[in-house]
Amino acid sequence: MKGIVLAGGSGTRLHPVTRAVSKQLLPVYDKPMIYYPISVLMIAGIRDILIISTPVDLPAFERLLGDGSELGVRFSFAEQAEPNGLAEAFLIGADHVGGDSAALVLGDNIFHGQGFSTILQRAVAQVEADKGATLFGYPVVDPERYGVGEADDSGRLVSIEEKPAQPRSNRAITGLYLYDNDVVSLASQLTPSARGELEITDLNLAYMHRDQARLIDLGRGFAWLDTGTHDSLIEAGQYISVLEHRQGVRIACLEEIALREGWITPDQTLELGRAQAKSRYGEYVMDVARRAGATG
Ligand code: DAU
Repeated sequence: MKGIVLAGGSGTRLHPVTRAVSKQLLPVYDKPMIYYPISVLMIAGIRDILIISTPVDLPAFERLLGDGSELGVRFSFAEQAEPNGLAEAFLIGADHVGGDSAALVLGDNIFHGQGFSTILQRAVAQVEADKGATLFGYPVVDPERYGVGEADDSGRLVSIEEKPAQPRSNRAITGLYLYDNDVVSLASQLTPSARGELEITDLNLAYMHRDQARLIDLGRGFAWLDTGTHDSLIEAGQYISVLEHRQGVRIACLEEIALREGWITPDQTLELGRAQAKSRYGEYVMDVARRAGATG
């Protein structure tokens, strides 16, 4: 499965913070926001990842992430000229997806929860074996701000609406979507919505109408954090900070994930930590590497 991180948009709800800096590069406590969605793809076992952002912001993502070889992954980069909608990611990323299945994650979505890697790896395997689409739902108090879905007892998606005035459930559709290879042709058949966007919800409806859309519940033991406003952004940072201080582990540490996946060696991990040794994050990476047997 190929990965796509969509990290464009204008970030207007965070102005003036995002007037000169992309929203997805803002810090969420100790690391840039985009580390969190990238970590989701990596723990799903996805190593070939396309980052899509605006023409102005893309060079900063390239500076931050490089080509991924240091982490044993491949990052490539593509521009979205205008924020024409989330589903446009599959038109921009058509060559990247090629004949494979694809996972799209929004660059401002933060997930955290016990057993997430198992859930993700099973979901990826299911899409690869049975085709179709898999979405992830999360209970929220304000579903009208999101895509809202309903599933039957077997987990089949039976309704989905984008920002409905009268939500039929409290189940928000999170910004993580797994699709079979038909996604590219289905995305190319979409027409822009009233707000002029290729809507991800229309893409998901296409799968639902084929009876090929599943909805997995991320229950109350999970955190799916909002980063859309000044308050929610700082709360997300506080959440990460509290957990990291209490547990002594770091969430979405890309170097640690790459090491655990076996994509880089302990010695390579140590080097990556050394390059950031003046920060606590870098110290943590060096610690993790030494505990895994790095000798340097
Ligand atoms: O976060 C989950 C929600 O994301 C889903 O529940 C909704 O169904 C889905 O439509 C989307 O809703 P948002 O209101 O969050 O969409 P927004 O337009 O704010 O875009 C989400 C992120 O994607 C945001 O960081 C900007 C970026 N983006 C957006 C558009 C429209 C792009 O990179 N390119 C785009 O064309």
